[in-house]
Amino acid sequence: MGTAIRIDERSAQDGECCGRASEARGDAYEWFVDHAKQCGRMTSGHHNLNFLMPILHGDLAEQLGHLPNSPVKVRVPIHDALQVVPRTWRHEARLLFALQDCVPNVPALLKGGRASSVHVYVDGVTLSTVCPPEKWVDDVYIQALTDLFGVLAQVRREDLPPLPLRWPRTGDSSGYLRRLARLTDACVRRPNWGRFGTLLASLGVPPNTMRAYAERVPGMQPRPYALLHTDLHRDNLIVTGDPARPLFFLDWELASYGDPLHDLATHLVRMRYPDDQQSDVIEAWRDVMHSVRPEAATGLDTDLPRYIAFEHAQSVYPDVMRAATRLLGDLDVNNLDTQVGAVRHALLKAQKPLGLRPVDGRKEIRAALLDWRRDQMRIRGGREALRKWRRGRF
Ligand SMILES: Nc1ncnc2c1ncn2[C@@H]1O[C@H](COP(=O)(O)OP(=O)(O)O)[C@@H](O)[C@H]1O
Ligand SMILES: [Mg+2]
Repeated sequence: MGTAIRIDERSAQDGECCGRASEARGDAYEWFVDHAKQCGRMTSGHHNLNFLMPILHGDLAEQLGHLPNSPVKVRVPIHDALQVVPRTWRHEARLLFALQDCVPNVPALLKGGRASSVHVYVDGVTLSTVCPPEKWVDDVYIQALTDLFGVLAQVRREDLPPLPLRWPRTGDSSGYLRRLARLTDACVRRPNWGRFGTLLASLGVPPNTMRAYAERVPGMQPRPYALLHTDLHRDNLIVTGDPARPLFFLDWELASYGDPLHDLATHLVRMRYPDDQQSDVIEAWRDVMHSVRPEAATGLDTDLPRYIAFEHAQSVYPDVMRAATRLLGDLDVNNLDTQVGAVRHALLKAQKPLGLRPVDGRKEIRAALLDWRRDQMRIRGGREALRKWRRGRF
């Protein structure tokens, strides 16, 4: 999750930074990225390191077609990040290029590549800073969010980067949910099973769980596919203070093309609205869809709960794996308690949709996590010893 940073709070460090940025040698872009990695103010999510730089210097600004001396963000993927979500498009930058002309209030991409990208920095704070989870979200922001959903429903497939092979066809709502479940199994559960399989199995999540879920996906009403963000939570929304465009929408890495109810479901779960606001948001979404693409709201009352259930089901993998990896390193009792709580919460949420009979006692969960940690520390120690031995030999 990101931290909110106001660009004007960073001036002390930035003066020095920008002094040196004008001394760029060699390839100006590569130099700037290296410089940002050293001197930029870092915020990190689960998949990227973001380095915020208050000024993009004259020559490079001109090269990238941006206003000189204005703030930018350098985004660098974390290479050994846990793979916890399937991705429809491998490179966010390609999608961002496509969105520049058809979706408003997305930070402009100045340059994008595999190793790094540079985006315009939007001055403001994340919504989570002014309105933390469980707090009532102002109507102005709900309007901005539902307007975004309306725009996304009208983006044409041909304006997007190509989809993976054998992507289900628009209108095939069950096919889309089935594809999501199969991708979760193939791209999240399977590659991580070698490392986390014993832990998941000992918590009551056997290896065939998600595949079995995919086979049980029920028939659903047809809805036309739309561009989906799928990760609209309070840390990915920048509050600008400008009434004409109150929110900017960040972080399009998990974007996809499919059933619009999937986007609404991930949004409702990840935003953590207060209970009595959630139904207002659903109605606001329905109203917008009725005016731009009425068929998108077909079957909402029966099918939205299915996507919400899937969101809880799939998150058992990231939630358990992240909690476990947070225990590597020094063992701290408070941290252990927090991670036991996180695992228990994830298991209870996933229990019904996945048909699990999970371990739910805190004591058993703690024991499973500690067993896993002990094995991992042993493997780590073994690797370290091997490395030392090799160094001594050659
Ligand atoms: N263009 C931007 N304008 C303002 N703040 C930004 C911008 N991009 C990122 N941030 C800050 O960095 C954090 C992480 O950025 P994000 O794009 O969500 O990456 P991640 O993949 O790491 O979650 C955000 O929560 C926000 O605080
Ligand atoms: Mg983010």
